[in-house]
Amino acid sequence: MKGSYSAAQIGLHWLIALLLPVQYLTGGSIERTHHAAHMGVTPSPFDLFQHLIHNYAGMLIGLLMGVRLVLRMIGPSTPRQPASWAKRAASALHYGLYAAIIAQACLGFIASYFWFGAASYHVAGSRIILAMVALHFTAAAWHTLILKDETLDGIVFPRRKPSSRRP
Ligand code: HEM
Ligand code: HEM
Repeated sequence: MKGSYSAAQIGLHWLIALLLPVQYLTGGSIERTHHAAHMGVTPSPFDLFQHLIHNYAGMLIGLLMGVRLVLRMIGPSTPRQPASWAKRAASALHYGLYAAIIAQACLGFIASYFWFGAASYHVAGSRIILAMVALHFTAAAWHTLILKDETLDGIVFPRRKPSSRRP
């Protein structure tokens, strides 16, 4: 398991993990901005700033997740045919995260620039992603603290041979 991912995959994993909380901290500012505008009040400059950060950080996350998915497709790092149900479940959750994050960024983009009706799906998506990340984090903690295996090392230490091929 140790050294399962390339340095680029690891860097992107942790960069996205750092950027994601920004979305949850800034998301609420958008409703406040719209509410102020509807009430004919000038939105708070800090809310406008957070709105801007939310949109651009969100687009960046979507883009980076897309790059990660491409890296994953051209050089998968985990066994292609998971041996156990737990590995199959982990693999399904990982692909679910790629899909959910990319879809979330697209929905936010559509809601912001084309059709605000997509906003309710975006809000629902934010709850689903939170649950998926919580599950993912719990699994990582379980591996590290209970099973005491090297799963976490896989996403911390880059694999040695960048040309590692599919099994
Ligand atoms: C994966 C990246 C993203 C995540 C995790 C995310 C998360 C969130 C969260 C947590 C909220 C607040 C939901 C609530 O009110 O309870 C929100 C609202 C919103 N986000 Fe994002 N967002 C992302 C990307 C984007 C992007 C790229 C855009 C636009 C370019 C965007 C536009 C919006 C809009 C318009 C709202 C307001 C929805 C409403 O209040 O009805 N988001 N987002
Ligand atoms: C502190 C938080 C996090 C921890 C401790 C963590 C831990 C891990 C670990 C240990 C792996 C390797 C699993 C394996 O090889 O079986 C992994 C992979 C992965 N993580 Fe996280 N992660 C965290 C946050 C996130 C977040 C926020 C996302 C959402 C974008 C995410 C998405 C993924 C994906 C998609 C993979 C699979 C990579 C692949 O095989 O292509 N992780 N993570």
